[in-house]
Amino acid sequence: MFPDLHGKVAVVTGGSRGIGAETCLALARNGVKVAINGRDETAIHATAQAIRAIGGHALAAPADCARLSSVEAMRDRIHAEFGAPDFVVAFAGGGTARPMPFEQITEEDWRSSIDNNLTSTFFTLKCFLPAMIARGSGGIVNMASAGGRVAAGAPAAYGAAKAGVIMLTRHLAQETGKHGIRVNCVSPSAVLTERTRQAISDEQEQQMRAAFPLGRLGHPRDVAAATLFLLSSASSWITGVTLDVAGGRVMS
Ligand SMILES: NC(=O)c1ccc[n+]([C@@H]2O[C@H](COP(=O)([O-])OP(=O)(O)OC[C@H]3O[C@@H](n4cnc5c(N)ncnc54)[C@H](OP(=O)(O)O)[C@@H]3O)[C@@H](O)[C@H]2O)c1
Repeated sequence: MFPDLHGKVAVVTGGSRGIGAETCLALARNGVKVAINGRDETAIHATAQAIRAIGGHALAAPADCARLSSVEAMRDRIHAEFGAPDFVVAFAGGGTARPMPFEQITEEDWRSSIDNNLTSTFFTLKCFLPAMIARGSGGIVNMASAGGRVAAGAPAAYGAAKAGVIMLTRHLAQETGKHGIRVNCVSPSAVLTERTRQAISDEQEQQMRAAFPLGRLGHPRDVAAATLFLLSSASSWITGVTLDVAGGRVMS
C-alpha cells in the first residue's frame, strides 16, 4: 500500500496481540522490519512466526513498557539487531474498558491505567527519540482511545491516561518537527480483537452497532491502515493530530 515504507525498521509496543499484532503484519506486508514488543513471549513469537510466514523480518522484543530499565534493555537489543528504528508505534496499553463509578476506582486501578497506557508511552518515546533526533527523521504513532476523547463509555482512569497520550503527542510533535520527526496518534472506538470478542456477545455487538454511523464495530486492520498512513510520506504535512478511527462515533 505504501511503497516508501519498504526497508524501514519499526518497533511496535503491544505488538504481541490484538491491534498491535495486526499492525505488525501490515507493516511487514509493506516491507518493514518489525521489532515486536509485549510481555507474553508466546504471543510475541506467534506474531513473529506469522510475519516470517509471509517472508517478512521480525524480532521478538519482550519488555514491560511501564518499567524504564526494561524499555532501555529492549531498545539496546533492537539497536544491536536491526539498527535504530525509523518508526515507533506505541500501542502497549489497555486495561479495564468497562465503565465504573468514579468512587469505585481503586488506587491499583488508577496506577495500572496510568502506568500501562501513559507512562509506558512516555518511556518508549524517551528511549527511542534520541536516535531519531540524531538521524533527523522519524515517524511516531501513539495509541489513544475514544475513551480519552469523550467522557463516556470507559473508566475515568483509562480516559485520563489516553487523554494524556493525546497531549503527550502534541507536545512531542511541537518539539520535534524541527528534527524531521512527525508524531501523531490514532484514537479507536470499539475494535473487535480476540480479547474484546470474548467480552462482547453477538447480541451486544448488534446493539452496539447502532451507535456507529458506519454501522459496524472496528477491525484491527482499520487501525493498522490508519497507522501506516500516518507513518508514510502520504501524510508528510501532518503532525500532532489525533485521528479518530471510530466509524463516525467520535467527530471533532
Ligand atoms: N480494542 C479496542 O476496542 C481499543 C479501543 C481503543 C484503544 N485501544 C487501545 O489499543 C491498544 C491495543 O489494545 P487491544 O485491544 O489490541 O488489546 P490487547 O489485545 O489486550 O493487546 C494489548 C497489548 O498491549 C500490550 N501491553 C499492555 N501493557 C503492556 C506493558 N506494560 N508493556 C508491554 N506491553 C504491554 C500487551 O502485551 P502482552 O499481552 O504480551 O503483555 C498486548 O500486546 C491499547 O493501548 C488499547 O488501550 C483498544
